[in-house]
Amino acid sequence: MIIGVPKEIKRDEYRVGILPVGVEELTLAGHRVLIEAGAGMGSGLTDDDYLQHGAEMLATAEELYGQAEMILKVKEPQPDERKLLRRGQIVFTYFHFAADRQLTEDVLNSGAFAVAYETLRDDRGRLPLLTPMSEVAGRMSIQEGAKYLERPQMGRGILLGGVPGVEPAHITILGGGIVGSNAGKIAAGFNASISILDVDMDRLRYLDDIMPPNVTVLVSDRHTIRAQLRQADLVIGSVLIPGARAPHLIARDDLKLMKPGSVIIDVAIDQGGCVATSRPTTHSDPTFIVDDVVHYCVTNMPGAVGRTSTFALCNVTLPWALRIANLGLVRAANEIPPIARAINAYAGEVTNRRVAEAFGLPYNPRFER
Ligand SMILES: NC(=O)c1ccc[n+]([C@@H]2O[C@H](COP(=O)([O-])OP(=O)(O)OC[C@H]3O[C@@H](n4cnc5c(N)ncnc54)[C@H](O)[C@@H]3O)[C@@H](O)[C@H]2O)c1
Repeated sequence: MIIGVPKEIKRDEYRVGILPVGVEELTLAGHRVLIEAGAGMGSGLTDDDYLQHGAEMLATAEELYGQAEMILKVKEPQPDERKLLRRGQIVFTYFHFAADRQLTEDVLNSGAFAVAYETLRDDRGRLPLLTPMSEVAGRMSIQEGAKYLERPQMGRGILLGGVPGVEPAHITILGGGIVGSNAGKIAAGFNASISILDVDMDRLRYLDDIMPPNVTVLVSDRHTIRAQLRQADLVIGSVLIPGARAPHLIARDDLKLMKPGSVIIDVAIDQGGCVATSRPTTHSDPTFIVDDVVHYCVTNMPGAVGRTSTFALCNVTLPWALRIANLGLVRAANEIPPIARAINAYAGEVTNRRVAEAFGLPYNPRFER
């Protein structure tokens, strides 16, 4: 198969869809890998790194989309990229169709086969191509929180770990899933005082077993959340109800309970955010202030640490890309159910029930597993 990896063109996106080792694995398996010149630069990977491991370099996206049978990338195709998609071309990337009708219509009209990272679900119900980005965002949330608690960034002027004789910061983490547990782990290493709140008792028991003593796990209810807001210097929003908009766990009035200069990092902003006053922001203008509380609501946090995120993402996507390249998409879908579940659009038809429902489009269950 001819596999093409374009340079990402979405704003603030520094990741790339393949590592040099991926080029080597695919070429060893008998495939050709085309890379758009400069595709890896945002992640510190040079054209030479790819050439040395068997890639062929192309100067433009037009040439790449024109030749590749499978496009391997990171973000959903942007309007200019959608014009280049061809009927029967496999596109393996994040799509998040349900959030964007125009994207859905353009991809359907192209007749391309859309294989979405975010719906590749294994037999235990896990989403292995989403997990690494939650790990990145969770760990990064503490790093960003530490930065915005600094006074020049409009924060309270608090050092997460305190010093001998001075209290550490208190961090409240709403949701103890992948993002929340990774945030908790990093915050614990900073010596902060941490509370993780969740509604899933099994999850709380598990976190209680594995977390160090400066992490307390609590049931997430209205009273506990309000008590935490009075205490918190930093709040991490990391709840998820799969397929639904994030619940507003912090109402507008609740901000008055918080200390001036405290910081909210609403990681769940990509699902609407779990704070009533949150609105999406970008890496170039990441924060805003409401009622003296700093809000950070960047929707693509992993993009800022492109190199780490590229490695984390490609580590998990390559084995699936190899399977699709080796077997062809239809045989791969027939033999490997997670790949079947990842196919959202096939030759102009919607093959994912939720996407069809989101836009009232006809659903073709040919890949239902
Ligand atoms: N902004 C970004 O760049 C970025 C990056 C990665 C992930 N995310 C988002 O972060 C969010 C969390 O992702 P995840 O992978 O950790 O999900 P997850 O499913 O692993 O964890 C979510 C947790 O929230 C808990 N929860 C549900 N309702 C709750 C409530 N009322 N109170 C407290 N906890 C509650 C669940 O029990 C679960 O443990 C998602 O919206 C995800 O899309 C954002």
